[in-house]
Amino acid sequence: MNNKTIFITGGNSGIGLATALLFAKEGANVAILSRRRHENAAARAKIEKLGVKALDFAGDVTDETTIRTALAKTAETLGGLHFAFNNAGVEQVPTPLVEQTLEDYRRIIDVNVMGVWLCLKHELPLIEKSGDGCVVNNSSVAGLVGMAQLELYIASKHAVLGLTKSAALEYAKSGVRVNAVCPGAVHTEMYERFVSKDPNLAHNIESMHPMGRSGTPEEIASAVLWLCRDATWTTGQALALDGGFTVP
Ligand SMILES: NC(=O)c1ccc[n+]([C@@H]2O[C@H](COP(=O)([O-])OP(=O)(O)OC[C@H]3O[C@@H](n4cnc5c(N)ncnc54)[C@H](OP(=O)(O)O)[C@@H]3O)[C@@H](O)[C@H]2O)c1
Repeated sequence: MNNKTIFITGGNSGIGLATALLFAKEGANVAILSRRRHENAAARAKIEKLGVKALDFAGDVTDETTIRTALAKTAETLGGLHFAFNNAGVEQVPTPLVEQTLEDYRRIIDVNVMGVWLCLKHELPLIEKSGDGCVVNNSSVAGLVGMAQLELYIASKHAVLGLTKSAALEYAKSGVRVNAVCPGAVHTEMYERFVSKDPNLAHNIESMHPMGRSGTPEEIASAVLWLCRDATWTTGQALALDGGFTVP
């Protein structure tokens, strides 16, 4: 991964941070973009400690100017763009469909769908310019199955797979691959927020995974590294990383 660069949205926490650290350990330069400045600076320091160059951008994935500018600066400063992990996302509090609001719709669909689309739009030409590379979008098992009271999150993660497949086809001849990971429950801040609403939820969620446990951010990061570095004939795929959740 020496002389390669990855751009990661939501890189200051959870799955995004674990991926940033793994790519840095492998020698890649890393740029992260997320909203909280303090967490961004802390993540950048951890990445730089591994001996690679790092950039952090404070911004929202729903803002096209922010995305375009951050990506241009990344490519200019870190020797081009080779990989991207479109990972930033927000969860939905389980709510009966009839009580869901337009504000919920806009918040979840804007970040989880428009954010990924905007990133793809500005990443793909830069990666193509670098010769070849790979984008990984973070969908979810929620992109593969339905779940009651989570219609907006489910729809957003299904849409991420639609974007993945279509962009993969559009860029298939260009050397740029586009894939998605579909994690089951993974121990992160998002997971903690989600299960904190109901004392039984953590137990119920873990028992929905045949392997009997939730995943770690590092287990998702290693699959992102595999897709970027090793899976050279794989494009348009949705890779379930879920302890068997989607098997039954
Ligand atoms: N944890 C799970 O069980 C699980 C399972 C399947 C899929 N996923 C997906 O994995 C991805 C990462 O989630 P995580 O579990 O690692 O949660 P997390 O620790 O809460 O990380 C979410 C990241 O997204 C960033 N973010 C949120 N909204 C943003 C916005 N509008 N613009 C820019 N950055 C934004 C957050 O940083 P700031 O708040 O600083 O912006 C943070 O870095 C999400 O797409 C999620 O849907 C998670």
